[in-house]
Amino acid sequence: MGKLDGKVAVITGGTTGMALAGAKLFVDEGAHVFITGRRQEALDEAVKQIGRNVTGVQGDAADLDDLDRLYDTVKREKGSLDVLWASAGGGEPAPLGEITEAQFDTWFGLNARGTLFTVQKALPLFNDGGSIFMTGSNASLGAFPGWSVYAGSKAVQQAWARVWLNELKDRRIRVNVLTPGQVATAKQEELFDEDTKRQFESLIPRGRMGRPDEIATAALFLASDDSSYVNGMELVVDGGTTAI
Ligand SMILES: NC(=O)c1ccc[n+]([C@@H]2O[C@H](COP(=O)([O-])OP(=O)(O)OC[C@H]3O[C@@H](n4cnc5c(N)ncnc54)[C@H](OP(=O)(O)O)[C@@H]3O)[C@@H](O)[C@H]2O)c1
Repeated sequence: MGKLDGKVAVITGGTTGMALAGAKLFVDEGAHVFITGRRQEALDEAVKQIGRNVTGVQGDAADLDDLDRLYDTVKREKGSLDVLWASAGGGEPAPLGEITEAQFDTWFGLNARGTLFTVQKALPLFNDGGSIFMTGSNASLGAFPGWSVYAGSKAVQQAWARVWLNELKDRRIRVNVLTPGQVATAKQEELFDEDTKRQFESLIPRGRMGRPDEIATAALFLASDDSSYVNGMELVVDGGTTAI
């Protein structure tokens, strides 16, 4: 018996990294999973890797028409939804003094505005007792120079989780934030050279970056009844970086 038997889950930004690892695990635990991403080729490859009980829907989580298309597909194929993991997000370094309007609009457009509408547009399909969680970042808990736009655009989630769980309490829908630290993903490879990665690792009490499967297991906890009494919490999975 799987922890997500018969459940329907949506994972935005699910074609690589920790969200792909989560999508595989959710399917292994009995769910049907809808994953999204902007690149059709990466989406097709992820669907192939997952292999069963998965639907790929191409789209940008910052684009409200794409979100409508996503939920139209969920409604047509499955009728309703039990789990939403709003994981699509990103950022780039920009120290105060050099932040451009375009950087602000891009990252708040995806991490804040996109996440809010990803959740809001899912609500008509949500079954009572469902689980919503969003991928935050421990950048919003630490004070990493150069990352204020990213940190700010993710910090909203902690406030939203608390307000939304209160608004959704009659439907018993839980809302939480899953907050990773440094995790070895494609985005990390793109952003950081080996020296920078070593510097980051020196700040992590656990002594190394996280692996995507270590975020996936935390996501399964939040998605499943294992966390049935966990509501409005931020689950920080960062090897202890922001605990010290
Ligand atoms: N990696 C880390 O160390 C780390 C740490 C803390 C928090 N996070 C957060 O964890 C999440 C995943 O991060 P990651 O490092 O795995 O990122 P990533 O490698 O850049 O992207 C992962 C997935 O998201 C998709 N994606 C990116 N932008 C999207 C958009 N606008 N709409 C829909 N899909 C989109 C990507 O596919 P396409 O490019 O094809 O769209 C890919 O499938 C993000 O919210 C990130 O902020 C990451």
